[in-house]
Amino acid sequence: MNKLEINVLFVCLGNICRSPTAQAVFETQVRQAGLQNSIRVDSCGTAAYHIGKAPDSRSISAAEKRGYAMQHLRARKLEVEDFSTFDYILTMDEENLLNTQALAPDESQAVIALYMDFSAEQKTDTVPDPYYGGADGFKDVLDLVEGAGAGLLDTIKDKYFN
Ligand code: 4NP
Repeated sequence: MNKLEINVLFVCLGNICRSPTAQAVFETQVRQAGLQNSIRVDSCGTAAYHIGKAPDSRSISAAEKRGYAMQHLRARKLEVEDFSTFDYILTMDEENLLNTQALAPDESQAVIALYMDFSAEQKTDTVPDPYYGGADGFKDVLDLVEGAGAGLLDTIKDKYFN
């Protein structure tokens, strides 16, 4: 019998701030739950500006302060094949949700949703873009994706691993 693998893709605009942070945090949460061989995590952007680039240095240092490593990640763009690979495609804001839905083939079985829908804390519907702001924005991203990650992990555990 094939081993069950759940694939999760996080989506933002540039894939250098929010979605790689979401990836690094959720990978850590998955590892802490002992599910690293069953849940695969990736991230991408809806825009092509930063393809092949490492995450923004401000995201890397904010994440590092909380013990998350993300400097090894490289930006890529959302592609149509992602809709057959991934079970969950979770976007950081509504604009990226609309752009993701627009690329989704009709036959896609993926759950396509706002990542913050999974947060039990629900302080906001979206993860605000920190790119043009100050250092606090990068901390806010971490707070939000930590909360949503805990909720997503509970959802996946309840559905597939109980
Ligand atoms: P991200 O942030 O979507 O969280 O990776 C951004 C990165 C780059 C740009 C905008 C947002 N940009 O305009 O280059």
